[in-house]
Amino acid sequence: MQNNNEGIRLHKFLAEAGIASRRAAENLIAQGNVKVNGITATLGLKVTEQDTVVVNGKIIKAKPLEKRILIYNKPVGEICTRFDDKNRPTVFKKLPALPSGRWISVGRLDINTSGLLLFTTCGKLANKLMHPSTNIDREYAVRIFGRVTDDMINNLLQGVMLEGETTPMRFTDIQKAPEGEGANHWYHCVVMEGRNHEVRKLWESQGLEVSRLKRVRFGPVFLTSEIKVGNFREMTETEISFLCKELGLDV
Ligand code: URA
Repeated sequence: MQNNNEGIRLHKFLAEAGIASRRAAENLIAQGNVKVNGITATLGLKVTEQDTVVVNGKIIKAKPLEKRILIYNKPVGEICTRFDDKNRPTVFKKLPALPSGRWISVGRLDINTSGLLLFTTCGKLANKLMHPSTNIDREYAVRIFGRVTDDMINNLLQGVMLEGETTPMRFTDIQKAPEGEGANHWYHCVVMEGRNHEVRKLWESQGLEVSRLKRVRFGPVFLTSEIKVGNFREMTETEISFLCKELGLDV
């Protein structure tokens, strides 16, 4: 039972479970016919899947949330928090409204990073996708300002102990891309974890400057050219089951 922002209002929960309309559910609560975790509920109470809701002696199961995933092409300049006290644009602003629940972002990208960001309605799936033990690789296209030597590439592949970290960080692959001009060159690099600012910090540890950073792949999910900057595409059910199977996720 929650008094904070988690969960949904009890009358909405009951309506979504098909017990009554929202208005009739409010009446059931007001008349003392609804108990949450053994205690008679009051109007305005919020509940989550963990709570036991009973109406007139019968346990009500929450309708399972539909598992949906969006592939979003984040522009530079958007932040990945839900609310911003400086009123900057957030990645959540353009997402489609949901009948219930909310979009959860699978990890974050810095304000100056663009590219692939996944959103899902399923908290369990989001946790699995973000957890280091799931071993999902993330690929970034990065424009480096400065001269990149073979020694630097070797250091980045071997692992670098960065300030404030307890274990070394490294890229599992680095490939030079043909584009670039002057002192700017593009690389594709792959990391296995989603640590804060890891791609920038790794390149910067070699005295180099990251002048552009874009995520192009998250595990088997690619950012394809039909998803324009600032737009999203919803994954089909078949794609979602393929993703879950591919990652050995039982969610
Ligand atoms: N690594 C970074 O440094 N920034 C990002 O936004 C993502 C990964």
